[in-house]
Amino acid sequence: MSTYKIVVAPGDGIGKEVTTWGRKVLEKIGQVYGHTFTFTEAVIGHVAIEATGNPLPDDSLEKMRASDAILFGAVGHPKYDNDPSAKVRPEQGLLKMRKELGLYANLRPIKLFDELLNASSIKPEILKGSDILFFRELTGDVYFGQPRERRDNGNTALDTMIYSRYEVERIAKKAFEAARTRRKKVTSVDKANVLESSRLWRETVQEMAKSYPDVEVEHMFIDTAAMKLIKDPRSFDVVLTGNLFGDILTDEASQIAGSMGMLASASLGDQTGLYEPIHGSAPDIAGKGIANPLASILSVALMLDISFNLKKESEVVIWAVEQTLKEGFRTGDIADATTPPTHILNTDQMGSKIIEKMGQ
Ligand code: IPM
Ligand code: MG
Repeated sequence: MSTYKIVVAPGDGIGKEVTTWGRKVLEKIGQVYGHTFTFTEAVIGHVAIEATGNPLPDDSLEKMRASDAILFGAVGHPKYDNDPSAKVRPEQGLLKMRKELGLYANLRPIKLFDELLNASSIKPEILKGSDILFFRELTGDVYFGQPRERRDNGNTALDTMIYSRYEVERIAKKAFEAARTRRKKVTSVDKANVLESSRLWRETVQEMAKSYPDVEVEHMFIDTAAMKLIKDPRSFDVVLTGNLFGDILTDEASQIAGSMGMLASASLGDQTGLYEPIHGSAPDIAGKGIANPLASILSVALMLDISFNLKKESEVVIWAVEQTLKEGFRTGDIADATTPPTHILNTDQMGSKIIEKMGQ
């Protein structure tokens, strides 16, 4: 019997709709297993800009620092996408949260539920059995490198791709250790044939590999990795990569799992962990009540496992998702031509199914 302090930061778009169900799943776990979860809400993103002018107000950050884990939704609003001149942007809230909380390791497990083999645009025989764990570095690289500025009266722009040995070492260590609990293979992805920062990345990983003789290490260029990921996804176990390459590869890899709507992620550092779907705010469907809540629910499974070491509780959540899919229920994004209309559920119906299952 324990008490856990959770901050819920729904953010923008479908964030609110999906984190509502993540929270309900935690409440259900609390009821069934006798844990107490307390919830505090924090604003971030466009909603925070509207309310305070700041995409991550200090008050939100303080609540997050004081919590045991954060359940995050998404940030982003179409208003900013075609306005490159906007100085204050929702995404700044997300990046600041990652940096301030020291969340340098982003784990993105790509696990395909057999029931969704046909939801992907990739052939089932290529996909079946794919199980990849991405370690994306999250607080460095061109996302944060300085200088980043306009020069030449605004006609030239630059960002800085930068890594230090220490930043590579701490994420690589997590990847190697995770590989030991899996199929013992790490694919480190870089662009060492062109970029100096990638050459440091590769050199560091090669050096560390000596301490993990039981783990097979392969180095791959980002362009090759992008190609191999859809050609032969089963050849990957743990993928270790930098912030920008990881951002791109994990969206691509989401297609292995059928839909972005299924993928959860954990961002870890030395303190509070952050759990979120890998999908964004999806403004096109926001407010319609049709978003897939499963990524948020599976983020809760990751939280229970990683932050609270509640393995059984985590497995129950995954089991409930699996069973619901087995019974043929789908949200629109993972339905296919064979899904009967009676089995296509909206957000609340899907969320309720999962809660119902967890009580069985
Ligand atoms: C992600 C997102 C973010 C990123 C955006 C919203 C800033 O794409 O979490 O993958 O680029 O990291
Ligand atoms: Mg992304």
